[in-house]
Amino acid sequence: MANIIRRPAWFIPDRDITPESAYRNRRRFLAQLGLGAAFLPFLPSATRAADAAASARKGYPYTRNNAFNPAVRLTDESVVTSYNNFYEFSLDKESVRLLTGKFITSPWPIEVKGLCDYPMKIDVDELVSQMPMEERVYRLRCVEAWSMVVPWTGFPLSKLIEKAKPKAEAKFIRFETANRPDQFPGYSNPRTAGYPWPYFEALRMDEAMNPLTLLATGIYGKTLPKQNGAPARLVVPWKYGYKSIKSVVKIEFVATQPKTFWETLGPDEYPFESNVNPRVPHPRWSQATERIVDTGDRIRTQLYNGYGEYVAKLYPGA
Ligand code: MTE
Repeated sequence: MANIIRRPAWFIPDRDITPESAYRNRRRFLAQLGLGAAFLPFLPSATRAADAAASARKGYPYTRNNAFNPAVRLTDESVVTSYNNFYEFSLDKESVRLLTGKFITSPWPIEVKGLCDYPMKIDVDELVSQMPMEERVYRLRCVEAWSMVVPWTGFPLSKLIEKAKPKAEAKFIRFETANRPDQFPGYSNPRTAGYPWPYFEALRMDEAMNPLTLLATGIYGKTLPKQNGAPARLVVPWKYGYKSIKSVVKIEFVATQPKTFWETLGPDEYPFESNVNPRVPHPRWSQATERIVDTGDRIRTQLYNGYGEYVAKLYPGA
């Protein structure tokens, strides 16, 4: 008995993940994007080397929590960093990365405020130096019925919440992305100019305190690329991806349930809770299955994205 390793739900069993032969085949993915193999490599090698050096200075890579996911095969890094939802830049996933040039992500103060004893304004690098950093591999399931498997670097959000000491009346926590009209072309794009910028999201306090909820500052052992939400984003793996707000600058403790960006744009399509649930279709498409982005393979979607063991208790009667 003593030798039985009980794996938490964020361990992704081999049978559920993309076979290596398939995920290594980027041609199919590129064909889906309408791009040829000549498009690779995506970034000039000098840029990649500079990014890697900057990451190393900040202590990356941090130790992966191998107790939970020793055999996981990941989505190809070049796909995770070139197929992005970040509407501040573009509605077109493949264009996002190309439009991030003017986005300044350092210095990056994060403000923690509202109903708490210790409000603070702290730069992300200082925060990283104070927090228990680790790497964890999670599934990311987008409401658009595609998914990825990503090695995030970050720390449990609960650790920051404990530092701020929310008051008893604080029942929700609201997050806001930077507000940068001059750096975000999406603000002036006629298709998205009317969106209620800056992007904002929220969680119940018990969801925010759940050990799975991370504030991520890196992927693939390096600092977050701009298109993935540099320098700090939320990761809530049992909820649809739009809850995982990018490039966070404000975290606020509040007493009543805040509105969220997508709920404001489409309350019937993107409700506050937004837990991954294959039995509840989006009004315009099924959520029963999902497409793995790099291979195009379709797999069954799991309730709470496979993390029910950790979060089902938060939703009694669901
Ligand atoms: N955060 C901001 N600020 N703006 C966005 O448009 N898109 C969300 C989420 N966080 C979004 C955001 C959506 S819809 C998804 S699926 C994930 O980011 C995508 O994260 P990724 O590009 O790292 O895969």
